[in-house]
Amino acid sequence: MKNKVLENSLQQAIKVYSNADGASLYVADKIAQIIKRKQELGDFAILGLATGSTPKGVYKELVRLHQNEGLSFQNVVTFNLDEYYPMHPVEEQSYVTFMRQNLFNHLDIPAHQIHIPDGTLSLEGIQAYCDLYEQKIKDFGGLDMQLLGIGRSGHIGFNEPGSLKDSMTRLVNLNDITREDASDDFGGKDRVPTQAITMGIQTIMQAKQIFLLALSERKAAIIQQALRGEISAEVPATFLQQLEHVEYILDQKAASLL
Ligand code: F6R
Repeated sequence: MKNKVLENSLQQAIKVYSNADGASLYVADKIAQIIKRKQELGDFAILGLATGSTPKGVYKELVRLHQNEGLSFQNVVTFNLDEYYPMHPVEEQSYVTFMRQNLFNHLDIPAHQIHIPDGTLSLEGIQAYCDLYEQKIKDFGGLDMQLLGIGRSGHIGFNEPGSLKDSMTRLVNLNDITREDASDDFGGKDRVPTQAITMGIQTIMQAKQIFLLALSERKAAIIQQALRGEISAEVPATFLQQLEHVEYILDQKAASLL
């Protein structure tokens, strides 16, 4: 039986929209507010970003706000959650390509303010690179916001089951379900990389605000476990239950088992 106070605050953190568009517009508006607030202060907005099918609607709306409503991204600094390893940035399945196509190519964000883990490093160089990634986030004063999807394995970023709460940016092995889910993108599961570089659970949890977006019935079972299950490394997203500054933004289908 869970503590009642925790139960109530979790309930308040859940927002259910009748469809994916409503959920995406809500998140995009929250991000736009952060950017504008930081502009008024003459500060950078430090955004942690995700890839995959889930955030596409958010990015579409951010592009619209830039193109039609003059929202500038010149004060925005981004850190992406993850990248496959090995992966060359120009490859079709790279998260660099995804981010360029869905967001960065359409904005006025200076290229040097964009950070995405480098999938081309030699194995020996990875840990030092990951430590530097963490340091860069710290040097900017930490993430103002982290946008998350959730994998059917329960991963956030590529923190698969077994990931520890104090994990930081590092090289990880991808779970079977995750590789299965990526198989269409790569033309077969055996072509999906077995590893990735990801921010850690601790990196994510240190963000000042977290938006976990989940859309469609494919996410209903894992959302139920992530929000209602016991906190455990077996479902890494459950660690977020311990935080006050998380919002779960769901469409009705993803929320259907809550
Ligand atoms: C992507 C990421 C992953 C995805 C998750 C859901 O940068 O970190 O955790 O958010 O795998 O993917 P989609 O949105 O494709 O269902």
